[in-house]
Amino acid sequence: MLTAYDFPMAKLVDAAGIDAILVGDSMGNVVLGYGSTIPVTMDDMVHHVKAVTRGVSRAMVVGDMPFLSYHLSREESVRNAGRLLQEGGAQTVKLEGGAEVADVIRAMVNAGIPVMGHLGLTPQSVNQLGGYKVQGKDEATARKLIEDALAIQEAGVFSVVLECVPTALARLITEKLDIPTIGIGAGPVCDGQVLVAHDMLGLYGEGSPKFAKRYAQLSDQITDAFKAYRQEVESRAFPGPEHSFGMDEEILEKL
Ligand code: KIV
Ligand code: NA
Repeated sequence: MLTAYDFPMAKLVDAAGIDAILVGDSMGNVVLGYGSTIPVTMDDMVHHVKAVTRGVSRAMVVGDMPFLSYHLSREESVRNAGRLLQEGGAQTVKLEGGAEVADVIRAMVNAGIPVMGHLGLTPQSVNQLGGYKVQGKDEATARKLIEDALAIQEAGVFSVVLECVPTALARLITEKLDIPTIGIGAGPVCDGQVLVAHDMLGLYGEGSPKFAKRYAQLSDQITDAFKAYRQEVESRAFPGPEHSFGMDEEILEKL
């Protein structure tokens, strides 16, 4: 799985044969310029899920439930999840949390909405977690993570993202669950992997985490292209005749 937030990126991810596209609330960080995922709204998510699904012909699209969109009431949670399918065109939704969200997961699943879970480092709780750090390193928090994974599986999630947990704990959870685990900073032991496209493409530099392997450094190529354009405009090398339109000389003489 990879993230995408707009039409061109979704087309590229889909064409590369990636199984699933996550329209993550990470777009708060990597495309909207916020310092966290907390400012992202339902309307933001619907807008971007729509753009993504217009570019996808094959991959499963997962719409991320943003901060506070699945906490106020069961009804509002189901309605919000439903918007990502009905208005956005996604096939599934994803939400963060363990036993405390089991009830809303159940309500969504009962409404025909497939739900993906998300445990470990859950960025919407960054203010409780005290920063973006590895989760489940001590016995109590590791045990809690296992219990949460079992609780949301029981509630009906079809898969769960494990973010920033030790590899050995990710292995244990993967073994204990019947549903597939999708890791990000959780080692090679998960059933699948996910990365934020802008991180792995080198399009976003600010505080990218250790687990975000750089498969490309596109920001360098983009900067080079922008500078070349500026220089060619200043020197009048661009636009050349091949980028410009001609006109009949006879008409021109009459003007
Ligand atoms: O928003 C996101 O991109 C995510 C992934 C990191 C799993 O939730
Ligand atoms: Na997210």
